[in-house]
Amino acid sequence: MAAERLTGAALEAELDRLLGEGSAFQPSEDFKASALISDTGIWDAAEADPVGFWEEQAGALDWNTRWTTGLDDSNPPFYKWFDGGTLNASHNCVDRHVEAGLGERVAYHWHGEDGSTQTITYADLHRDVQRAANALKDLGVKAGDVVGIYLPMIPEVVVAMLACARIGAPHNVVFGGFSPQAVVERMEVSDAKVLITASAARRKGKTAEVKQQVDDEIASRAEGLPALDTILVVRHADGDAPMTEGRDVWWHESLAAADPVCPAEAFPADHPLFILYSSGSTAKPKGILHGTGGYLTGVAWTHLNVFDLKPETDVWWCSADVGWITGHSYIVYGPLMNAATSVMYEGAPDYPHTAIWWELVEKYKATIFYTAPTAIRACMKWGAEEPAKHDLSSLRLLGSVGEPINPKAWLWYHHVIGGSKCPIVDTWWQTETGHILISPLPGVANAKPGSAGRPLPGVLAEVVDEAEGKEVERGNQGLLVLRRPWPGMLKTLYRDDDRFIETYFSRFGNDTYLVGDAARQDPDGDMWVIGRIDDVVNVSGHRLSTAEVESAIVAHPAVAEAAVIGQSDEQSGQAICAFVTLEGSHETTDAVMAEINEAVAERIGKFARPKRIIWSDDLPKTRSGKIMRRLLRDIAEGRALGDVTTLRDPAVMAELQKHVAARASEED
Ligand code: PRX
Repeated sequence: MAAERLTGAALEAELDRLLGEGSAFQPSEDFKASALISDTGIWDAAEADPVGFWEEQAGALDWNTRWTTGLDDSNPPFYKWFDGGTLNASHNCVDRHVEAGLGERVAYHWHGEDGSTQTITYADLHRDVQRAANALKDLGVKAGDVVGIYLPMIPEVVVAMLACARIGAPHNVVFGGFSPQAVVERMEVSDAKVLITASAARRKGKTAEVKQQVDDEIASRAEGLPALDTILVVRHADGDAPMTEGRDVWWHESLAAADPVCPAEAFPADHPLFILYSSGSTAKPKGILHGTGGYLTGVAWTHLNVFDLKPETDVWWCSADVGWITGHSYIVYGPLMNAATSVMYEGAPDYPHTAIWWELVEKYKATIFYTAPTAIRACMKWGAEEPAKHDLSSLRLLGSVGEPINPKAWLWYHHVIGGSKCPIVDTWWQTETGHILISPLPGVANAKPGSAGRPLPGVLAEVVDEAEGKEVERGNQGLLVLRRPWPGMLKTLYRDDDRFIETYFSRFGNDTYLVGDAARQDPDGDMWVIGRIDDVVNVSGHRLSTAEVESAIVAHPAVAEAAVIGQSDEQSGQAICAFVTLEGSHETTDAVMAEINEAVAERIGKFARPKRIIWSDDLPKTRSGKIMRRLLRDIAEGRALGDVTTLRDPAVMAELQKHVAARASEED
């Protein structure tokens, strides 16, 4: 029996009681009885032969040629999974299900921001993906050519990704929230040959003229985009678009003209499936490159087992955007490989109203829901009365991803959304890892609010000390590392093997992947991920580099210097706080502040705009001129200052404290 769902003061009191208890949560007997994995033996089996374990999981895919070597580890850290094997990703996502008689199964219940709907079956995907693949071929795209994709959350984005995969052209999807400038830059550095975009996108009732903006951005560059031959334009949101003769082609016209049959070609397991740019600790985004056979194996297995998926009966909903790794792995490849039925929503969780998610859970009878802590906290703010308007009894499992989830949000999610009956899987992973690596398995777990649980079977994660990389005692904080390759591991950074080695392996050697997170493993082996150790900030689950934001700010002509830090934020986990020094003749006005914000929105995207800008006459620097961000973080968070003895001018700190206090009183 599900417990009565509380709201208001009664809910607050119950959450406080549960927080005080600090209990762990067991799956119900019912859940356990039908769970895909319900005993812990799988960890020992995988540990005895990790490569064999993943080889067994790779057997769930269709291979044109079986691999000869499970893992070629002769040249670390360039590992090759399933070497000698060949397969096609789009065949594994679509064709084999149609061949097995599942053509009429719904792949996506798509729901538009304006309330329009589309039902897309596996047979529909099969038809559209073949035509789109042929359309790309007709445009001269060949295996290995990069195709950029900048689309909203519409069915065509899935078709476009699978069409690329079908012909071996790595896709480079850019999140729709990035600015056209960021998109064009990502096309340029990857030498994209084709860009697939939309005439327009819906954004909370407004329409953004996406194609026009992209055109303007390309035109503003002296050399344009030399490698880009074609822009393929999906007509959306009733939007017309300027079309340049000889370069731009309508998606619907080119699909209609294309041959309907495009056999799926087999590619080596190691063939690049996609590039996804992610922020690192410098201003230059990292092109994370994933292969095919290993990535698909890890994604398919985790999607099935972490979410205890029963493809015949479940309705899966991952609320991420397809432009992030969560969307790639758990909206597109994972669900499709497992022949699942998914919900796909075009809009934001608060548009047209703050109960839209729950309206859709009820409408489509979603059974598994996967979202980010920042979204859960937003829902908490809107109130438990919103979900209470809808019947959420179809839900049986919930997931969380992207940042540490605070125990109160976990408990709210569990009680208010899950009716106190749904297990929660707090899944830890990264763009680089390709798929979930640390998470409770819901039929086994003793889930603790705030902990991502144990590393999955076959995964060797450890918490080590900074100096020597030796495992610390359980309960102590240290650096999270991965000691053994896993199938979805990034192949390298696109065209930058040196940066790949430098970023992830220079610290502890080529067999130890440095995650970039601090963590603690408790005596039961459960991981508590604390946060990033580098200059990467996690704003609402979006990864941003402080250097990237700084470089956007200093591009403003009035700015002399800027330092950006991540500051804890109740809503978004972390928020961007920028300390800015202006050139001598400029005044610190609201107008300049607005211009700086606008510069960041243009350069990166609106989601990267600083929440706070603090004017400062000088910044704390070491004698060698390095900005001490640690001290800025202390100041912004109101903590006692750490060691200031290495500062060139310790008086700077007192001045800065005054500015922070002044800013705080303005905000009150
Ligand atoms: O710091 C960790 C945090 O998000 C980082 C990875 O960001 P990104 O590549 O954008 O991928 C996000 C979606 C997979 C990690 O280094 N992170 C992700 N999941 C969790 C998390 N932190 C704590 N708990 C999690 N469940």
